[in-house]
Amino acid sequence: MKDALIEFLSEKGVLITPEALDYVEKDVGDINKLRSALSSMEEFPHILGIERIRPILEGEIAEAPLPKPSGEDNFIKVPEIPVKADVARPDINIIRDVTGKSRSTAKVESFLSTFKDRYSRLYRVLRAKPHLKYVRRIGEAVKKRGEEISVIGMVRDVKETGKGFIVSLEDPSGSVEVFFSKETLREKPLLDEVVGVFGRIPLSDRGKKPRMFGKRIVWPDIQPHKMSLSKEKVSVAFISDLHVGSETFLKDAWDSFIRWLRSPEARDISYIIMAGDVVDGIGIYPDQEEELEISDIYEQYTMLAKMVEEIPDRISVIMIPGNHDFVRPAEPQPAFDDDIKKLFSGEVLFAGSPSLIEIHGVKILAYHGTSINDFINVLPGVSYEDPSLALIRMLKSRILAPIYGGKTPLAPEKEDYMVIDEVPDIFVTGHVHSFVKSNYRGVKIINASTWQSQTKYQKMNNFKPDPGVVAIAELDTGRIYEKRFHT
Ligand SMILES: [Fe+2]
Repeated sequence: MKDALIEFLSEKGVLITPEALDYVEKDVGDINKLRSALSSMEEFPHILGIERIRPILEGEIAEAPLPKPSGEDNFIKVPEIPVKADVARPDINIIRDVTGKSRSTAKVESFLSTFKDRYSRLYRVLRAKPHLKYVRRIGEAVKKRGEEISVIGMVRDVKETGKGFIVSLEDPSGSVEVFFSKETLREKPLLDEVVGVFGRIPLSDRGKKPRMFGKRIVWPDIQPHKMSLSKEKVSVAFISDLHVGSETFLKDAWDSFIRWLRSPEARDISYIIMAGDVVDGIGIYPDQEEELEISDIYEQYTMLAKMVEEIPDRISVIMIPGNHDFVRPAEPQPAFDDDIKKLFSGEVLFAGSPSLIEIHGVKILAYHGTSINDFINVLPGVSYEDPSLALIRMLKSRILAPIYGGKTPLAPEKEDYMVIDEVPDIFVTGHVHSFVKSNYRGVKIINASTWQSQTKYQKMNNFKPDPGVVAIAELDTGRIYEKRFHT
C-alpha cells in the first residue's frame, strides 16, 4: 500500500513526510480515502505533513488550513491574493546532503578518510586538465631527475622566501616541496586545497626533502558553465540569517516581505530557500543572552514556525542550518532533528548545509557559508561586505571549506561532503549579513542577506550589515534580481 500511495502522490507532485505516511498506512489503512480527498482539492499541498493529512482524512474540511499561530496579534493580517491556477507543481530533489548519512567519529582515521576522499575526488577532476595529462604519483615523480613532470597533491604548507614561495604538496605516495618564483605564482594556493603542479625535478638535489621547480599551478576549477533552465515559469527567493529570537530581528522588514509574497507581483515565487542561522540560538557567543528577545531555543523555532505559516501555501520553504542553529556546528551540518522539525507544520523541507538541491531541473548549491571567515583571513579582497571572491575561490578549488584547523569546525566524515562534485547553476551562501549577487564562469552566485540589524559585535567591528534584501532567481530565464524590504 505504501508504494501505491507514494506513486499516487508523486504523480500529483506531492511530497509526504514519513510520519504522515505511517499515519495513512497504520491508522487509516485505506488510500482511496486520501485519493478522493486530494482529488477534490483545487490545488494540492506541496508537502503533506501529519498536521495537514489528519484533518483531510477525518473529513472535517475539504482542504485543511494551516493551524493559526497562537498570539496571532503579533502577525500581520493581509488577505492572500489568489494565485493563478496554473502554478507550477513542486519539483524538488535533494541530490547531495549529509543528512541521515553521517558516519562521523572523533577518531584520527576518520579525518584521514575525509582527506583521502577529498584527494581522490579532486584528483579525478584535475587529471582531465591539459597540463596534467602525464601526471605521476609524488613518490614516483621525485625519482625522475631532470624530467618535466606533473603531480597532484594536497597543499600542506606555503612558505614565502626572498625569491618566491615553497609549496609543500602531499599525496598518498609521498611529499614534495615545489619552489615557485614570484612571477610564476601570482595566486597562492590555500592550505588543504588539492592542486596540480607542472614542473621539473632538478638533476641534482642536495636537500634532504625532494624538491621540484614549479612552472604552473592548476586548480580543479569549473569549466565555463551554461545554466540549465526550467520549463515552468517558476522563481526561487533566497534569504538567510533570520536570527529569530534576537532583539535585532527586523520584524517590520519581514512583515513587508510577507505582504509582498502575497501580492500578484510575487505570483511566480514557488520556493524560498533559507540559507541557515534561521534563529539566533543560545550560547553562541559570550553574553549573547543580553541581546536575546527569546532566550529558549525551542521558543525561537516556534516563533520561526509561526512566521513560516504566514508564507502563502503555494510556496515550498527549504531550510538549511547555520552556525547559530540547534544542530551540530561541525560541517557538513545535517538537517534539524525531529524535535525541531515537529514545531513546523506543512510546507517545509529540511536539508543539511551544504546541500545540492535540484528544483525544476536547476541545480542549486546551498551552503550557510561559515568558512567565509577563514577566507577573509587568508584571501586578499574578501571581506564581510563583499564575500564574492570567497565564493569564487570555493568554486575554483571545488571545496566549500578547504582549510582544516581554522575558524570552520569540520566533522570527519567518510566522504568529504564539502567537495563540489557537481557544478551548480546557482550557488548560495549567507552568514556574513551582506548581500552580493555575481557570476563566476556562468554559475550564478548569491550571498543572501539577513533579517537582523547591526549587532553590538558588528558595531564594535565597524561592520554595517545589508539586511532585508531578497534575491529572486527566475528559473525559466536565469535572471536574478533583488527586492529590498528594509527601509
Ligand atoms: Fe552564520
